[in-house]
Amino acid sequence: MNNFTYYTPTKIYFGKGQISHLDELAEFGQRVLLVYGSGSIKRLGIYNEAIKLLNDAGLTVFELSGVEANPKVGLVRNGISLCRENNIDMVLAIGGGSVIDTAKSIAAGTCYEGDVWDLIEDSSKIKNALPILTVLTLSATGSEMNKNAVLTNTDLHVKASMSSDLLKPRISILDPTYTFSVSRIQTAAGTADMISHAFENYFSPIRDSFLSIQFGEAVLRTCFKYGPIALNEPDNYEARANLMWASTNAINGITKSGAEVGWCCHPIEHELSAWYDITHGIGLAIITPRWMKHILNEKTVWKFAEYGRNVWGITGGNDMTVAEESISKTASFFFDELGLPSTLSAVGINDERFELMAESAAPSCQKGLVPLSKEDILEIFRASA
Ligand code: NZQ
Ligand code: ZN
Repeated sequence: MNNFTYYTPTKIYFGKGQISHLDELAEFGQRVLLVYGSGSIKRLGIYNEAIKLLNDAGLTVFELSGVEANPKVGLVRNGISLCRENNIDMVLAIGGGSVIDTAKSIAAGTCYEGDVWDLIEDSSKIKNALPILTVLTLSATGSEMNKNAVLTNTDLHVKASMSSDLLKPRISILDPTYTFSVSRIQTAAGTADMISHAFENYFSPIRDSFLSIQFGEAVLRTCFKYGPIALNEPDNYEARANLMWASTNAINGITKSGAEVGWCCHPIEHELSAWYDITHGIGLAIITPRWMKHILNEKTVWKFAEYGRNVWGITGGNDMTVAEESISKTASFFFDELGLPSTLSAVGINDERFELMAESAAPSCQKGLVPLSKEDILEIFRASA
Protein backbone atom coordinates (compact mmCIF):
# COMPACT_ATOMS: atom_id res chain seq x y z
CA MET A 1 0.00 0.00 0.00
CA ASN A 2 1.51 3.33 -1.09
CA ASN A 3 1.80 6.44 1.07
CA PHE A 4 -0.93 8.99 0.49
CA THR A 5 -2.36 12.31 1.65
CA TYR A 6 -6.10 12.57 2.08
CA TYR A 7 -7.43 16.08 2.51
CA THR A 8 -11.01 17.19 2.25
CA PRO A 9 -12.35 20.57 3.32
CA THR A 10 -15.82 19.95 1.85
CA LYS A 11 -18.79 19.99 4.17
CA ILE A 12 -21.51 17.81 2.64
CA TYR A 13 -25.19 18.41 3.39
CA PHE A 14 -26.92 15.32 2.02
CA GLY A 15 -30.66 14.72 1.71
CA LYS A 16 -34.04 16.29 1.11
CA GLY A 17 -34.37 19.95 1.96
CA GLN A 18 -30.68 20.51 2.72
CA ILE A 19 -30.69 23.62 0.54
CA SER A 20 -31.80 25.47 3.67
CA HIS A 21 -28.10 25.52 4.60
CA LEU A 22 -27.40 28.05 1.86
CA ASP A 23 -27.65 30.72 4.55
CA GLU A 24 -24.20 29.54 5.71
CA LEU A 25 -22.71 31.23 2.66
CA ALA A 26 -22.79 34.45 4.65
CA GLU A 27 -19.68 33.10 6.43
CA PHE A 28 -17.73 33.67 3.22
CA GLY A 29 -18.73 37.28 2.54
CA GLN A 30 -21.62 39.27 1.13
CA ARG A 31 -21.34 39.08 -2.64
CA VAL A 32 -21.93 35.83 -4.47
CA LEU A 33 -21.69 34.90 -8.13
CA LEU A 34 -24.37 32.32 -8.94
CA VAL A 35 -23.36 30.12 -11.91
CA TYR A 36 -25.85 27.89 -13.71
CA GLY A 37 -26.64 26.28 -17.05
CA SER A 38 -29.38 26.57 -19.60
CA GLY A 39 -32.32 26.78 -17.26
CA SER A 40 -33.13 23.40 -15.69
CA ILE A 41 -32.73 24.96 -12.24
CA LYS A 42 -35.42 27.52 -13.09
CA ARG A 43 -37.82 24.86 -14.36
CA LEU A 44 -37.26 22.82 -11.20
CA GLY A 45 -37.82 25.75 -8.82
CA ILE A 46 -34.33 25.43 -7.32
CA TYR A 47 -33.37 28.87 -8.64
CA ASN A 48 -36.22 30.68 -6.86
CA GLU A 49 -35.61 28.79 -3.65
CA ALA A 50 -31.90 29.56 -3.70
CA ILE A 51 -32.36 33.24 -4.48
CA LYS A 52 -34.82 33.60 -1.60
CA LEU A 53 -32.48 31.87 0.86
CA LEU A 54 -29.50 33.95 -0.27
CA ASN A 55 -31.43 37.22 -0.07
CA ASP A 56 -32.80 36.31 3.37
CA ALA A 57 -29.20 35.69 4.50
CA GLY A 58 -28.30 39.22 3.37
CA LEU A 59 -26.27 38.19 0.34
CA THR A 60 -26.12 40.15 -2.90
CA VAL A 61 -26.42 37.83 -5.88
CA PHE A 62 -24.79 38.31 -9.29
CA GLU A 63 -25.48 35.77 -12.02
CA LEU A 64 -23.70 33.96 -14.83
CA SER A 65 -25.92 31.58 -16.80
CA GLY A 66 -25.57 29.65 -20.04
CA VAL A 67 -22.95 27.08 -19.05
CA GLU A 68 -22.92 24.42 -21.77
CA ALA A 69 -22.10 20.73 -21.42
CA ASN A 70 -18.35 20.32 -21.99
CA PRO A 71 -17.94 23.87 -20.60
CA LYS A 72 -15.93 26.37 -22.58
CA VAL A 73 -13.13 28.63 -21.39
CA GLY A 74 -14.76 31.68 -23.02
CA LEU A 75 -17.63 31.77 -20.53
CA VAL A 76 -15.14 31.31 -17.69
CA ARG A 77 -13.33 34.44 -18.84
CA ASN A 78 -16.66 36.35 -18.73
CA GLY A 79 -17.23 35.08 -15.20
CA ILE A 80 -13.78 36.21 -14.08
CA SER A 81 -14.49 39.72 -15.40
CA LEU A 82 -17.81 39.75 -13.53
CA CYS A 83 -16.07 38.75 -10.29
CA ARG A 84 -13.41 41.42 -10.64
CA GLU A 85 -15.83 44.20 -11.60
CA ASN A 86 -18.17 43.41 -8.72
CA ASN A 87 -15.73 42.43 -5.95
CA ILE A 88 -17.30 38.99 -5.69
CA ASP A 89 -16.49 37.08 -2.48
CA MET A 90 -17.51 33.53 -3.50
CA VAL A 91 -18.83 31.46 -6.37
CA LEU A 92 -21.95 29.29 -6.05
CA ALA A 93 -22.59 26.60 -8.68
CA ILE A 94 -26.06 25.11 -9.04
CA GLY A 95 -26.05 22.32 -11.59
CA GLY A 96 -24.06 19.35 -12.84
CA GLY A 97 -20.35 18.92 -13.45
CA SER A 98 -20.17 21.47 -16.25
CA VAL A 99 -21.58 24.21 -14.04
CA ILE A 100 -19.41 23.26 -11.07
CA ASP A 101 -16.26 23.11 -13.19
CA THR A 102 -17.03 26.52 -14.65
CA ALA A 103 -17.51 27.93 -11.14
CA LYS A 104 -14.23 26.39 -9.95
CA SER A 105 -12.33 27.81 -12.91
CA ILE A 106 -13.82 31.26 -12.30
CA ALA A 107 -12.89 31.04 -8.61
CA ALA A 108 -9.26 30.24 -9.44
CA GLY A 109 -9.01 32.52 -12.47
CA THR A 110 -10.24 35.55 -10.53
CA CYS A 111 -7.26 35.22 -8.19
CA TYR A 112 -4.73 34.76 -11.01
CA GLU A 113 -3.28 37.66 -12.99
CA GLY A 114 -2.77 35.90 -16.33
CA ASP A 115 -5.22 34.07 -18.58
CA VAL A 116 -7.17 31.26 -16.90
CA TRP A 117 -6.09 28.70 -19.55
CA ASP A 118 -2.56 28.94 -18.06
CA LEU A 119 -4.00 27.14 -15.01
CA ILE A 120 -5.00 24.20 -17.18
CA GLU A 121 -1.49 24.01 -18.59
CA ASP A 122 0.13 24.37 -15.17
CA SER A 123 -2.06 23.95 -12.09
CA SER A 124 0.83 24.83 -9.77
CA LYS A 125 0.04 28.42 -10.74
CA ILE A 126 -3.17 28.19 -8.69
CA LYS A 127 -2.12 30.00 -5.52
CA ASN A 128 -5.52 31.17 -4.38
CA ALA A 129 -9.21 30.81 -5.26
CA LEU A 130 -12.49 32.32 -4.15
CA PRO A 131 -14.52 29.96 -1.94
CA ILE A 132 -16.54 27.51 -4.06
CA LEU A 133 -19.99 26.32 -2.99
CA THR A 134 -22.17 23.86 -4.89
CA VAL A 135 -25.73 22.59 -5.13
CA LEU A 136 -25.57 19.39 -7.18
CA THR A 137 -28.37 18.55 -9.62
CA LEU A 138 -26.84 15.64 -11.59
CA SER A 139 -24.94 12.64 -10.23
CA ALA A 140 -21.89 11.89 -12.33
CA THR A 141 -18.63 13.80 -12.10
CA GLY A 142 -17.92 14.02 -8.37
CA SER A 143 -16.82 17.61 -8.94
CA GLU A 144 -18.85 18.51 -5.83
CA MET A 145 -16.11 17.09 -3.60
CA ASN A 146 -12.96 16.89 -5.70
CA LYS A 147 -10.13 19.13 -6.79
CA ASN A 148 -10.64 19.07 -10.56
CA ALA A 149 -12.21 21.37 -13.12
CA VAL A 150 -12.41 20.24 -16.74
CA LEU A 151 -12.62 22.88 -19.47
CA THR A 152 -12.72 22.88 -23.26
CA ASN A 153 -10.80 25.28 -25.44
CA THR A 154 -12.60 25.18 -28.78
CA ASP A 155 -9.83 27.11 -30.58
CA LEU A 156 -7.24 24.52 -29.59
CA HIS A 157 -9.61 21.50 -29.62
CA VAL A 158 -8.31 20.64 -26.19
CA LYS A 159 -10.32 19.42 -23.23
CA ALA A 160 -8.23 19.21 -20.07
CA SER A 161 -8.39 19.79 -16.35
CA MET A 162 -6.88 22.03 -13.74
CA SER A 163 -6.40 20.50 -10.34
CA SER A 164 -5.76 21.95 -6.91
CA ASP A 165 -6.88 21.44 -3.32
CA LEU A 166 -7.98 25.08 -3.52
CA LEU A 167 -10.70 23.96 -5.94
CA LYS A 168 -12.34 21.66 -3.44
CA PRO A 169 -15.75 23.11 -2.59
CA ARG A 170 -16.26 24.41 0.95
CA ILE A 171 -19.90 23.33 1.09
CA SER A 172 -21.79 21.00 -1.25
CA ILE A 173 -25.51 20.42 -0.97
CA LEU A 174 -26.57 17.01 -2.29
CA ASP A 175 -30.34 16.65 -2.48
CA PRO A 176 -31.21 13.48 -4.43
CA THR A 177 -34.72 14.79 -5.21
CA TYR A 178 -33.09 17.38 -7.49
CA THR A 179 -31.96 14.55 -9.75
CA PHE A 180 -35.46 13.06 -10.27
CA SER A 181 -35.78 15.20 -13.41
CA VAL A 182 -32.48 14.18 -15.00
CA SER A 183 -33.23 12.69 -18.42
CA ARG A 184 -32.83 9.02 -19.20
CA ILE A 185 -29.73 9.54 -21.34
CA GLN A 186 -28.04 11.85 -18.79
CA THR A 187 -28.85 9.40 -15.98
CA ALA A 188 -27.27 6.58 -18.00
CA ALA A 189 -24.26 8.67 -19.01
CA GLY A 190 -23.78 9.88 -15.42
CA THR A 191 -23.84 6.30 -14.16
CA ALA A 192 -21.25 5.31 -16.78
CA ASP A 193 -19.08 8.24 -15.71
CA MET A 194 -19.07 7.29 -12.02
CA ILE A 195 -18.36 3.66 -12.94
CA SER A 196 -15.42 4.81 -15.02
CA HIS A 197 -14.07 6.89 -12.12
CA ALA A 198 -14.21 3.82 -9.91
CA PHE A 199 -12.48 1.73 -12.63
CA GLU A 200 -9.71 4.26 -13.18
CA ASN A 201 -8.82 3.93 -9.50
CA TYR A 202 -9.57 0.20 -9.22
CA PHE A 203 -7.43 -1.08 -12.10
CA SER A 204 -4.20 -0.36 -10.26
CA PRO A 205 -1.10 -2.57 -9.99
CA ILE A 206 -1.17 -2.26 -6.18
CA ARG A 207 -2.63 -5.46 -4.71
CA ASP A 208 -2.63 -4.71 -1.00
CA SER A 209 -4.68 -1.51 -0.63
CA PHE A 210 -7.43 -3.85 0.58
CA LEU A 211 -9.73 -1.26 2.08
CA SER A 212 -9.72 1.15 -0.87
CA ILE A 213 -10.17 -1.72 -3.31
CA GLN A 214 -13.30 -2.69 -1.42
CA PHE A 215 -14.51 0.92 -1.33
CA GLY A 216 -14.20 0.87 -5.12
CA GLU A 217 -16.08 -2.41 -5.38
CA ALA A 218 -18.86 -0.99 -3.22
CA VAL A 219 -19.17 2.03 -5.50
CA LEU A 220 -19.31 -0.26 -8.54
CA ARG A 221 -21.92 -2.58 -7.05
CA THR A 222 -24.00 0.47 -6.10
CA CYS A 223 -23.92 1.78 -9.67
CA PHE A 224 -24.74 -1.62 -11.17
CA LYS A 225 -27.65 -2.05 -8.78
CA TYR A 226 -29.19 1.40 -8.82
CA GLY A 227 -28.41 2.73 -12.33
CA PRO A 228 -31.14 0.65 -14.00
CA ILE A 229 -33.61 1.37 -11.18
CA ALA A 230 -33.14 5.13 -11.61
CA LEU A 231 -33.69 4.74 -15.36
CA ASN A 232 -36.96 2.90 -14.89
CA GLU A 233 -38.18 4.82 -11.85
CA PRO A 234 -36.71 8.35 -12.12
CA ASP A 235 -38.21 9.44 -8.80
CA ASN A 236 -37.04 6.43 -6.78
CA TYR A 237 -35.36 8.20 -3.85
CA GLU A 238 -33.33 5.19 -2.75
CA ALA A 239 -31.83 4.79 -6.21
CA ARG A 240 -31.14 8.48 -6.77
CA ALA A 241 -29.65 8.88 -3.28
CA ASN A 242 -27.32 5.91 -3.59
CA LEU A 243 -26.19 6.99 -7.04
CA MET A 244 -25.54 10.50 -5.81
CA TRP A 245 -23.37 9.35 -2.94
CA ALA A 246 -21.62 6.83 -5.19
CA SER A 247 -20.75 9.54 -7.69
CA THR A 248 -19.22 11.68 -4.97
CA ASN A 249 -17.22 8.84 -3.43
CA ALA A 250 -16.00 7.43 -6.74
CA ILE A 251 -13.67 10.38 -7.19
CA ASN A 252 -13.13 12.15 -3.88
CA GLY A 253 -9.85 10.32 -3.24
CA ILE A 254 -11.17 7.57 -0.99
CA THR A 255 -11.11 4.77 -3.60
CA LYS A 256 -7.57 5.53 -4.69
CA SER A 257 -5.96 5.88 -1.28
CA GLY A 258 -2.83 3.73 -1.21
CA ALA A 259 -3.19 2.70 -4.86
CA GLU A 260 -1.13 3.65 -7.91
CA VAL A 261 -3.59 4.91 -10.43
CA GLY A 262 -3.26 5.86 -14.05
CA TRP A 263 -6.35 7.31 -15.59
CA CYS A 264 -6.39 6.12 -19.22
CA CYS A 265 -10.03 6.05 -20.39
CA HIS A 266 -10.55 9.68 -19.36
CA PRO A 267 -7.77 11.22 -21.46
CA ILE A 268 -8.97 9.12 -24.41
CA GLU A 269 -12.58 10.24 -23.92
CA HIS A 270 -11.58 13.87 -23.46
CA GLU A 271 -10.18 13.78 -27.01
CA LEU A 272 -13.58 12.64 -28.25
CA SER A 273 -15.56 15.29 -26.39
CA ALA A 274 -13.04 18.01 -27.29
CA TRP A 275 -13.36 17.30 -31.03
CA TYR A 276 -16.96 16.09 -31.28
CA ASP A 277 -18.68 17.64 -28.23
CA ILE A 278 -20.20 14.28 -27.24
CA THR A 279 -21.50 13.56 -23.74
CA HIS A 280 -18.59 12.52 -21.53
CA GLY A 281 -20.25 9.42 -20.01
CA ILE A 282 -21.30 8.14 -23.44
CA GLY A 283 -17.73 8.35 -24.73
CA LEU A 284 -16.50 6.51 -21.64
CA ALA A 285 -19.06 3.73 -22.04
CA ILE A 286 -17.96 3.13 -25.63
CA ILE A 287 -14.23 3.15 -24.84
CA THR A 288 -14.16 1.25 -21.54
CA PRO A 289 -14.97 -2.36 -22.57
CA ARG A 290 -12.53 -2.05 -25.51
CA TRP A 291 -9.83 -0.72 -23.19
CA MET A 292 -10.50 -3.64 -20.83
CA LYS A 293 -10.17 -6.19 -23.63
CA HIS A 294 -7.01 -4.48 -24.83
CA ILE A 295 -5.21 -4.60 -21.48
CA LEU A 296 -6.35 -8.09 -20.44
CA ASN A 297 -3.38 -10.49 -20.58
CA GLU A 298 -1.59 -13.04 -18.41
CA LYS A 299 -0.09 -10.28 -16.26
CA THR A 300 -3.33 -8.37 -15.64
CA VAL A 301 -5.78 -11.26 -15.46
CA TRP A 302 -5.60 -11.36 -11.65
CA LYS A 303 -7.19 -7.90 -11.44
CA PHE A 304 -10.03 -8.68 -13.83
CA ALA A 305 -10.69 -11.97 -12.05
CA GLU A 306 -10.86 -10.09 -8.73
CA TYR A 307 -13.31 -7.66 -10.34
CA GLY A 308 -15.44 -10.45 -11.81
CA ARG A 309 -15.66 -12.42 -8.60
CA ASN A 310 -16.07 -9.55 -6.11
CA VAL A 311 -18.28 -7.19 -8.10
CA TRP A 312 -20.25 -9.47 -10.41
CA GLY A 313 -20.26 -12.53 -8.16
CA ILE A 314 -18.95 -14.80 -10.93
CA THR A 315 -18.12 -18.26 -9.59
CA GLY A 316 -16.33 -21.24 -11.12
CA GLY A 317 -14.02 -21.12 -14.09
CA ASN A 318 -10.40 -20.04 -14.08
CA ASP A 319 -9.04 -16.52 -13.81
CA MET A 320 -9.13 -15.94 -17.58
CA THR A 321 -12.71 -17.12 -18.10
CA VAL A 322 -13.88 -15.04 -15.12
CA ALA A 323 -11.99 -12.02 -16.49
CA GLU A 324 -13.53 -12.38 -19.93
CA GLU A 325 -17.01 -12.79 -18.48
CA SER A 326 -16.54 -9.69 -16.32
CA ILE A 327 -15.75 -7.63 -19.42
CA SER A 328 -18.80 -9.01 -21.26
CA LYS A 329 -20.98 -8.15 -18.28
CA THR A 330 -19.57 -4.62 -18.18
CA ALA A 331 -20.29 -4.07 -21.87
CA SER A 332 -23.75 -5.53 -21.55
CA PHE A 333 -24.47 -3.25 -18.59
CA PHE A 334 -23.53 -0.11 -20.53
CA PHE A 335 -25.17 -1.01 -23.82
CA ASP A 336 -28.12 -3.27 -22.89
CA GLU A 337 -29.13 -2.20 -19.37
CA LEU A 338 -28.28 1.50 -19.59
CA GLY A 339 -29.08 1.60 -23.32
CA LEU A 340 -26.07 3.75 -24.20
CA PRO A 341 -24.69 3.92 -27.77
CA SER A 342 -22.13 1.15 -28.24
CA THR A 343 -19.91 2.45 -31.04
CA LEU A 344 -18.22 5.67 -32.08
CA SER A 345 -20.04 5.61 -35.41
CA ALA A 346 -23.33 5.61 -33.48
CA VAL A 347 -22.38 9.05 -32.09
CA GLY A 348 -21.18 10.36 -35.44
CA ILE A 349 -17.44 9.77 -35.05
CA ASN A 350 -15.45 8.22 -37.90
CA ASP A 351 -11.76 7.28 -38.09
CA GLU A 352 -10.63 10.61 -39.59
CA ARG A 353 -8.96 11.87 -36.39
CA PHE A 354 -8.02 8.60 -34.67
CA GLU A 355 -4.27 9.17 -35.23
CA LEU A 356 -4.36 12.76 -34.05
CA MET A 357 -6.42 11.96 -30.95
CA ALA A 358 -4.32 8.90 -30.04
CA GLU A 359 -1.14 10.92 -30.24
CA SER A 360 -2.59 13.67 -28.09
CA ALA A 361 -3.97 11.30 -25.41
CA ALA A 362 -0.91 9.03 -25.09
CA PRO A 363 1.23 11.26 -22.83
CA SER A 364 -1.58 11.21 -20.22
CA CYS A 365 -1.86 7.40 -20.29
CA GLN A 366 1.57 6.48 -18.97
CA LYS A 367 0.67 5.21 -15.50
CA GLY A 368 -1.55 2.59 -13.87
CA LEU A 369 -2.06 -1.12 -14.48
CA VAL A 370 -1.04 -0.90 -18.16
CA PRO A 371 0.43 2.30 -19.64
CA LEU A 372 -0.83 2.92 -23.18
CA SER A 373 1.16 3.97 -26.23
CA LYS A 374 -0.25 5.84 -29.20
CA GLU A 375 -0.56 2.47 -31.01
CA ASP A 376 -2.51 0.98 -28.10
CA ILE A 377 -4.95 3.88 -28.15
CA LEU A 378 -5.33 3.63 -31.91
CA GLU A 379 -6.29 -0.02 -31.51
CA ILE A 380 -8.83 0.90 -28.83
CA PHE A 381 -10.33 3.53 -31.15
CA ARG A 382 -10.48 1.03 -34.03
CA ALA A 383 -12.14 -1.57 -31.81
CA SER A 384 -14.68 1.08 -30.74
CA ALA A 385 -15.47 2.26 -34.26
O1 NZQ B 1 -27.78 23.34 -18.68
P1 NZQ B 1 -28.55 22.80 -17.52
O2 NZQ B 1 -29.85 23.45 -17.34
O3 NZQ B 1 -27.72 22.76 -16.27
O4 NZQ B 1 -28.93 21.27 -17.93
C1 NZQ B 1 -28.03 20.18 -17.79
C2 NZQ B 1 -27.33 19.77 -19.07
O5 NZQ B 1 -28.16 19.98 -20.18
C3 NZQ B 1 -28.81 18.95 -17.48
N1 NZQ B 1 -29.20 18.86 -16.07
C4 NZQ B 1 -28.42 19.00 -14.97
N2 NZQ B 1 -29.14 18.78 -13.86
C5 NZQ B 1 -30.40 18.50 -14.27
C6 NZQ B 1 -30.44 18.55 -15.66
N3 NZQ B 1 -31.58 18.31 -16.36
C7 NZQ B 1 -32.69 18.03 -15.66
N4 NZQ B 1 -32.73 17.95 -14.32
C8 NZQ B 1 -31.61 18.19 -13.58
N5 NZQ B 1 -31.64 18.08 -12.24
O6 NZQ B 1 -27.96 17.88 -17.83
C9 NZQ B 1 -27.16 18.28 -18.93
C10 NZQ B 1 -25.72 17.85 -18.69
O7 NZQ B 1 -25.16 18.57 -17.60
P2 NZQ B 1 -23.58 18.54 -17.31
O8 NZQ B 1 -23.32 19.41 -16.15
O9 NZQ B 1 -22.84 18.80 -18.57
O10 NZQ B 1 -23.33 16.99 -16.96
P3 NZQ B 1 -22.26 16.30 -16.03
O11 NZQ B 1 -22.56 16.50 -14.60
O12 NZQ B 1 -22.18 14.92 -16.52
O13 NZQ B 1 -20.88 17.08 -16.33
C11 NZQ B 1 -20.10 16.74 -17.44
C12 NZQ B 1 -18.83 17.58 -17.50
O14 NZQ B 1 -17.97 17.33 -16.37
C13 NZQ B 1 -16.67 16.90 -16.81
C14 NZQ B 1 -17.00 16.24 -18.12
O15 NZQ B 1 -15.86 16.05 -18.93
C15 NZQ B 1 -18.00 17.21 -18.72
O16 NZQ B 1 -17.33 18.34 -19.21
N6 NZQ B 1 -16.02 16.08 -15.79
C16 NZQ B 1 -15.64 16.69 -14.66
C17 NZQ B 1 -14.93 16.03 -13.68
C18 NZQ B 1 -14.46 16.70 -12.46
N7 NZQ B 1 -14.64 17.99 -12.31
O17 NZQ B 1 -13.89 16.04 -11.59
C19 NZQ B 1 -14.57 14.62 -13.80
C20 NZQ B 1 -15.28 13.91 -14.89
O18 NZQ B 1 -14.50 12.81 -15.28
C21 NZQ B 1 -15.59 14.74 -16.10
O19 NZQ B 1 -14.48 14.82 -16.97
ZN1 ZN C 1 -15.49 11.25 -15.84
